[in-house]
Amino acid sequence: MRSAGSALAVAILLIARRVSALDNGVARLPVLGYNAWNAFQCNVDEDLILQTANQMVALGLKDAGYNFINLDDCWALKNRSDTGDLVPDPAKFPDGISGLVTKLAALGFKTGIYSDSGWFTCAGYPGSWANEKRDLELFNEWGISLLKYDNCNIPFDNITRQNEIGRYQVMQKAIADVAEESGKPPIIFSLCEWGWQQVWLWGKTIGQSWRTTGDISPQWSSLASIINFNSFITMATDFYGRNDMDMLQLGNGDLTIDEAKAHFTAWALMKSTLLIGTDMRNVSQDVVDILTNSEILAINQDPVVGTSISPFRWGFNPDWTSDSLHPAQYWSGPTQDGVVFMLVNVADSPATLSFNLTESPWIRAGRQYSVRDLWSHTDEGIAVRSFSRDDVPPHGVVALLLKDAGDEPDALMPQCAVWYQCVTQDGIHVGG
Ligand code: GAL
Repeated sequence: MRSAGSALAVAILLIARRVSALDNGVARLPVLGYNAWNAFQCNVDEDLILQTANQMVALGLKDAGYNFINLDDCWALKNRSDTGDLVPDPAKFPDGISGLVTKLAALGFKTGIYSDSGWFTCAGYPGSWANEKRDLELFNEWGISLLKYDNCNIPFDNITRQNEIGRYQVMQKAIADVAEESGKPPIIFSLCEWGWQQVWLWGKTIGQSWRTTGDISPQWSSLASIINFNSFITMATDFYGRNDMDMLQLGNGDLTIDEAKAHFTAWALMKSTLLIGTDMRNVSQDVVDILTNSEILAINQDPVVGTSISPFRWGFNPDWTSDSLHPAQYWSGPTQDGVVFMLVNVADSPATLSFNLTESPWIRAGRQYSVRDLWSHTDEGIAVRSFSRDDVPPHGVVALLLKDAGDEPDALMPQCAVWYQCVTQDGIHVGG
């Protein structure tokens, strides 16, 4: 009979295997690229996509790392071919998707495509249900590198005999089988089922990213609610598997520059996939400057630390309060270069945002830190014990990288920045 100890070891191993990310060699880091849905919905064609790609090169976005161009819904005809294949709409894509992939590759881009795990896509085009392997073979033949897989128009239960996990696993298997048969790398699998069924608990066993919410819109209320929701599930994100906070709305709607900066900072530091979603033919320089902030992008693409920032204090609300208009304000996380902080002013008027350094678990007590401002790109001197920033604009953000700068000054009072449980060697509580 197996000992209790070894049974426990097996159980721990199984749990560890169940929750560990699907490392099939692709998308260790967040995907950076473009998706036309937020700006154009179904109104896309090859000309638009190629103009977009050329603009991405001309504006320096390709060089900044945005190297995927992803098609969304509406690229196909409404009916499959006589032999059962998906057919690219020839009016939109005269050279087919494979022709587009070749042209994008010549500009240095990989191509992503969209399908659905039901009968039809959300816009009513054919879905991949019961055609998973066939469709994957076609995508692979066309040279596709990423599949966004949606959740509309699901067949009845007596047909699927599956829950969502099961429907997405069928496509996962098709991806693995096609990779093995073709000898090409697996297609990156981007789950889009809007956070149903607690996807953050199992998405990482099936794909490399998973949407956590319904569709983003270009208003602060939408951004705030996505930040709020994701603030409670940051632990799900790491290398090879991440919460996808949805495509970027920078440049769209009525977002202010401060809101756009907060949007980009939160998405990047929470290690979301970053897909630009604005019309690149008339994007403003301000938006391009935000999207190409190399100090923020470097953290999103950190090759050593794959985890997300997390809130250490909610600020506007008591800790762990869910408030879709007023998410957590004080966030931090480790990076390969130091501890990154994000402060968000969720109020509608300017505010002072302050914190004690050791509120963040990654800061060492008794040490001082150099402060780098990741938006002004300036060094802000040395922080001892605390940091404060006045006049953070409404919905504005502060992003800081703190690096250890040695012991804090001698004889600093009080002896402990946080007095709770802090005592002399004799057990005397002298402060607080
Ligand atoms: C939604 C999805 C959007 C977009 C749209 C296309 O379900 O969340 O991101 O892909 O379908 O119809």
